[in-house]
Amino acid sequence: MKPEPINRHAAALVERFASRTALVGVIGLGYVGLPLALRFAEAGFRVLGFDIDAAKAAAIESGRSYLLHIPDCDVSRLAQADAVIICVPTPLTASREPDLSFVIDTFEALLPHLHIGQLVSLESTTYPGTTEEELKPRIESRGFELGQDIFLCFSPEREDPGNPRFTTRTIPKICGGATPVCLEVGVALYGCAVDQVVPVSSTRAAEMTKLLENIHRAVNIGLVNELKIIADRMDIDIYEVIHAAATKPFGFVPYYPGPGLGGHCIPIDPFYLTWKARQYGVHTRFIELAGEINSAMPHWVLGKVIDALNARGKPLKGSRALVLGIAYKKNVDDMRESPAVELMALLMEKGVRVDYCDPHVPRFPRMRKYRFEMASVPLAAEALAEYDLVLVATNHDAFDYDLIRRHARLIVDTRGVYREPAPHIVRA
Ligand SMILES: NC(=O)c1ccc[n+]([C@@H]2O[C@H](COP(=O)([O-])OP(=O)(O)OC[C@H]3O[C@@H](n4cnc5c(N)ncnc54)[C@H](O)[C@@H]3O)[C@@H](O)[C@H]2O)c1
Repeated sequence: MKPEPINRHAAALVERFASRTALVGVIGLGYVGLPLALRFAEAGFRVLGFDIDAAKAAAIESGRSYLLHIPDCDVSRLAQADAVIICVPTPLTASREPDLSFVIDTFEALLPHLHIGQLVSLESTTYPGTTEEELKPRIESRGFELGQDIFLCFSPEREDPGNPRFTTRTIPKICGGATPVCLEVGVALYGCAVDQVVPVSSTRAAEMTKLLENIHRAVNIGLVNELKIIADRMDIDIYEVIHAAATKPFGFVPYYPGPGLGGHCIPIDPFYLTWKARQYGVHTRFIELAGEINSAMPHWVLGKVIDALNARGKPLKGSRALVLGIAYKKNVDDMRESPAVELMALLMEKGVRVDYCDPHVPRFPRMRKYRFEMASVPLAAEALAEYDLVLVATNHDAFDYDLIRRHARLIVDTRGVYREPAPHIVRA
């Protein structure tokens, strides 16, 4: 594409970004939107945050006074914003199809307040074509010309919750524009808040980049989970093998097995592509296969639990189990799609009396699928010894693994915490 000459609205906007006189609006103050809003505030911008969840908004207001929040979610205030960034959820429907309702509803609410000289950037993970097919026509239907009057981008968020090595500022940010000028304006905005912006040729390429990243993880986790099952049958320690393979200085990336997939992204996003690919007559076979393997993992772990108890003359029914770690990954409190919760449900269905311990999740939250009235139990030597089974579902650093090893009667370890074999430790 030949670059268009930057027009006066674009130039004015870029100037407002550079001088930090621009007002940035962020819609959806969740795991993605809040850190981003804070990063823009830190970078010297005035920031308006919007969320339909009043409780979230109140908590933000009390703790972070420099982030202005609009309590009644009065989106008309967005008319004042120079850039509007959308970070609302993109879940799947009950029939596992993309649910764009949050994005579309947000956008419909925003549309009447759009005016010449604004940038709109979508960050929510979605299938390639969303920005072009859903957002662009809506803007154009109001008589705006993209790249002249309004600037539209897709810039996916990259997050690794619980990883202290990266921050919003230091994670390079992909940006695609609806037109070359849109891209230029988008890069100018994000360049003020992150160290490196990576421009791509279109919003579709940016949408697909995010999906490639997440599908890459889903497929490789599926692969290593399958290899774990094979290694287990062959009595080979899969962790020893992964650590050995990881010494290869090129061409290998280590992935670690677990009790299944969790989090908001990896179990969900790949199916956005599956759905879209069908419109092109293509089946996403790797995605489906990885999904099949990963979603079967809790059942495989349950099989290992049954075998381990059986070997000790105990049936599942009536046994007492302590599940350690119920967040979906170590050292975080995020419960979304956590396989540990599915394990708890599977055990309960079979008549096991289940407790859990998770220092990051003191009370079991209300979840879409599960309503357990439970609280985290303390981890003490005598209490540990009372359980027929201690199931390590999530390997938080806060656990005293030595205490657990010394006092638990039977440990089923789904995370490779215990590398030394012991008669009362079963890998799963
Ligand atoms: N969590 C991650 O690690 C991560 C990483 C990369 C991308 N993403 C993607 O980013 C998007 C947001 O994810 P998240 O994890 O921040 O979700 P989240 O559920 O934590 O946050 C979304 C927020 O949007 C609010 N919201 C919903 N509809 C709204 C509306 N109409 N107006 C204002 N606020 C509204 C919700 O109340 C919620 O607070 C998703 O598309 C997700 O796939 C998430």
